[in-house]
Amino acid sequence: MDELAFIDRSGSNAEKYFLRKKLFGTNDVQPMWVADMDIATPRCVLDAVRERLNHPAIGYEIMSGRAYEGQIGWIQRHHEWRIQREWLSYSPSVVASIGCVIRAFSDEGDEVIVMSPVYPPFFIQVKENNRHLKLHALRQNSEGEYYFDIETLRSQITPKTKILLLCSPHNPVGRVWLRDELLSLGTLCLEHGITIVSDEIHCDLVYEGYTHIPIASLSDELSECTVTFLGTGKTFNMAGFGISTVCIASAHLRTLYERERSRIHWGEGAVLSHVAFECAYRHGEPWYKKLMVHLEVNRDTLIQWAKRERIIKVNPPQGTYLAWLDCRAFGLGDRELREFFIHEAGLGLSAGLGFGREGSGFMRLNFAVSTVILEDALDRISTALRGRGYD
Ligand SMILES: Cc1ncc(COP(=O)(O)O)c(C=O)c1O
Repeated sequence: MDELAFIDRSGSNAEKYFLRKKLFGTNDVQPMWVADMDIATPRCVLDAVRERLNHPAIGYEIMSGRAYEGQIGWIQRHHEWRIQREWLSYSPSVVASIGCVIRAFSDEGDEVIVMSPVYPPFFIQVKENNRHLKLHALRQNSEGEYYFDIETLRSQITPKTKILLLCSPHNPVGRVWLRDELLSLGTLCLEHGITIVSDEIHCDLVYEGYTHIPIASLSDELSECTVTFLGTGKTFNMAGFGISTVCIASAHLRTLYERERSRIHWGEGAVLSHVAFECAYRHGEPWYKKLMVHLEVNRDTLIQWAKRERIIKVNPPQGTYLAWLDCRAFGLGDRELREFFIHEAGLGLSAGLGFGREGSGFMRLNFAVSTVILEDALDRISTALRGRGYD
């Protein structure tokens, strides 16, 4: 049986450890920043890769129909969305795909809407491709839950607005968007001829009581104006395989995208990644179920802790293994807040400001670790808070 295995990745080249000195000025922090897990990739995936190595030729290979069918079956079973084989193509990275679609579907000087706070490469890809960043500040209701305001969004649209970048589920705020929210967003984009670029890489990491809905699955019209990014990277902790897919139903958008994609020549990817991708989608289900049970335990541990601490608020993540800690009541500036977590709590978290101005006063904590490590991290924060005189 494929069990969850928690891994101590210190001493390896794992980014979260390797970059500690550079990012936090010290190696003496428990790293809980970059979005991967301290959990071994499913054993069936590793076995399939080992098995492939029995064939000694590692040349150029294309991703097999079986691999794509594996993903199609998974998405159908988990998200009730029937994808056609020809809609899908390989990409080495979701972030690279974001840049590629921005160039494919807009011109320099055009506007791209991004909802802030959000995963920082959203901003970076827009700016580095010389497009104009149109920021939409997410709001919080009285419960602290984030939402976008459709009328404000409408007022932000101009004839130069060509793309809306959607993060669904949303990193870092953990929202799983509701059908009505997605429909209102989709309708607005259809009215204005805006292409929806939906990053759904966290789509499988959704908790009890919430359902991820692919925006492209809502109607034929929305399917025709949406590009969706999908993959095994987050779900099966396979980011290091460098494989994902871009899903485009519209033949017209596909032609534009293929033109840009062939300019970059990222080809069909690495054979070991193809094998891993296929195996994860076809045989990874039992492991994935255990993963979700574990992540839910950690999420609840964190929420209970935040209720006790009170000074740090955490709106329960509906999806993702990322907690968005609201530390504003603490009254520290962003630099001091970061220093507090590094030097007083001994933790390497992502500073909220990196996710946009709206992230000021927040920190993002990755809880895809063992419960023991998570509890230790929370204890460290509690002790540091006591050190500051908070009871
Ligand atoms: C929303 C989102 N998109 C994309 C990525 C990265 O994807 P990739 O490694 O395939 O570029 C991440 C990683 O944290 C993410 O959170």
